[in-house]
Amino acid sequence: MDLFDLTGQTAVVTGAARGLGLSFASVLARAHCNVAILDIGRAASEGVDHLRTTHGVRIEYYTCDISSKAQVVDTIERVQQDFGRIDINVNAAGVVTDEPFISTSEDTINRTFAINFTGSFLVAQACAASMIKRIEASLLSPPVDPAVEGGSIVFIASISTHLPSMAQNIAPYVGSKAAVRGLVKPLAVELAPYGIRVNSLSPGYMMTDMMEGLQRRQPDLVRQFQRETLLGGGRRIGRPDELQGPLLMLCSRRAGGWMTGQDLLVDGGAASWKHAAALGD
Ligand SMILES: NC(=O)c1ccc[n+]([C@@H]2O[C@H](COP(=O)([O-])OP(=O)(O)OC[C@H]3O[C@@H](n4cnc5c(N)ncnc54)[C@H](O)[C@@H]3O)[C@@H](O)[C@H]2O)c1
Repeated sequence: MDLFDLTGQTAVVTGAARGLGLSFASVLARAHCNVAILDIGRAASEGVDHLRTTHGVRIEYYTCDISSKAQVVDTIERVQQDFGRIDINVNAAGVVTDEPFISTSEDTINRTFAINFTGSFLVAQACAASMIKRIEASLLSPPVDPAVEGGSIVFIASISTHLPSMAQNIAPYVGSKAAVRGLVKPLAVELAPYGIRVNSLSPGYMMTDMMEGLQRRQPDLVRQFQRETLLGGGRRIGRPDELQGPLLMLCSRRAGGWMTGQDLLVDGGAASWKHAAALGD
């Protein structure tokens, strides 16, 4: 029995045109899971096209602004028609703006919450509705054994909800990710009878497109994050593939079937110590 085999299952992954979302879609596909990718761009990225041809599973790309309920409901209906079922939902789409608290605009607050919190909420809600329909149609009576049926919802939160870095001014982002973590326990309670598990994964500092953008605007930033990351020996931050194992564990019924209502912090040890070095030292 392979603990991590997802043959016959379908995952909905948001924000998977690039970065961590693409890396999550890739490990799910490697585990033989079909993947529906939701992202805001008009067309699939090169990374998504590469996935389609690599793992012999079905990969479809859907243009969807997750902050729009109408778009989310319509897209998840199309996924349901195209794939026939939804078993897993990973919510990786997210945005961050670095600006001082005092001058943060209402626009930044609203956009950050609309995508990071409301968008994740709406996609999880639509996916959970589809999972519940499938489980009810299977005539299994609650409580459904999570190792046999059910589903898995994973929200992507952040190390910053555990320990903010003094190198960034990102209050609305941290607030929105804390709100995402706030969903995990109540949804775990509500969805447990159906065998649907709900967890979040909090990445530490990871070298993605989002991080490269930050690095261009604030060259000292990544140097500071490197110093804060224990396992990188002060010389590197995390690679997206270093989150693939933990994500797969959370998604897999056999590997993570007894885990719900939790946040899994995977940060190379960055939140495990008092950071001695201030920015620019
Ligand atoms: N990179 C890190 O160090 C780090 C650390 C902690 C948490 N995170 C979180 O992990 C997730 C992925 O981060 P990343 O670094 O890969 O970011 P990224 O910017 O590289 O990718 C984010 C993806 O989300 C998509 N997206 C943005 N707005 C959208 C919308 N309205 N609808 C649909 N898709 C939308 C983007 O098009 C993009 O493909 C984010 O939620 C981020 O907050 C990242």
